[in-house]
Amino acid sequence: METTINGVRVRYTDVGHGPAILLVHAFPLAGAMWRPQLEALQGEYRLIAPDLRGFGGSDAPPGPYTMDQQADDLAALLDHLGLARATVCGLSMGGYIALAFMRRHAARARALVLADTKAGADSDDGRAGREANARLAEAEGAAAIADKMIPGLVAPDAGQAVRDDLRAMIIANTPAGIAGALRGMALRPDSFEVLPTIAVPTLVVVGELDGLTPPAEARAISMAIPGSAVAVIPGVGHLSSMEASEAFTAALRDFLGGLHD
Ligand code: MLT
Repeated sequence: METTINGVRVRYTDVGHGPAILLVHAFPLAGAMWRPQLEALQGEYRLIAPDLRGFGGSDAPPGPYTMDQQADDLAALLDHLGLARATVCGLSMGGYIALAFMRRHAARARALVLADTKAGADSDDGRAGREANARLAEAEGAAAIADKMIPGLVAPDAGQAVRDDLRAMIIANTPAGIAGALRGMALRPDSFEVLPTIAVPTLVVVGELDGLTPPAEARAISMAIPGSAVAVIPGVGHLSSMEASEAFTAALRDFLGGLHD
């Protein structure tokens, strides 16, 4: 499905019936990264998985795409769908966006899932690395970003199928979209101050071998969010929802099943 949100054509998947869950994808992927969860949970929930601005089938206007702007796009998508509230589940960059959503649109969140993400802003070195990657994408295309990033996105022994899936998703994105998101992530503020204000049920999920946002980050986030829980997915890396889709979905299902409307 497709709509225009804040002047940008946005493509999204909307399947199933039941309490709404908004699935917010990682960088530099697309809503399709949630395919296993869309398939497994659509009998019980309404699942909405947008391609964020700059990714997948959505337009890639000039960047940078700030996390605030992406969060505002999500709130506008909920408006478009007539949904007052949804559970927001974001992985990595999707988690940065979910935290911006909690800062700006907290009343629209029924519950929160923060997966393989972190609350801190980038260091100076991190920001310089993002700019270097943005230039790499602009000069050499999305395939260069895929080559550089895939080894860090999954565990060392991750299978070829998940790597192929990832590569297909990354190279379908445009250099402009990739660069816009990188420059937007570099601008994001520290979100630690928002964590103690989160007043909805929250699950923090992390792959045991996540080298980009390790379990220590997940525990630090959870310590700061009153009443939140942590689920560690054994044996997998950063993209835990893709690498161990069944274990990730089971953790999500357990959490969602415990929510009472
Ligand atoms: C992601 O998976 O979304 C990215 O690794 C996040 C980041 O680059 O900080």
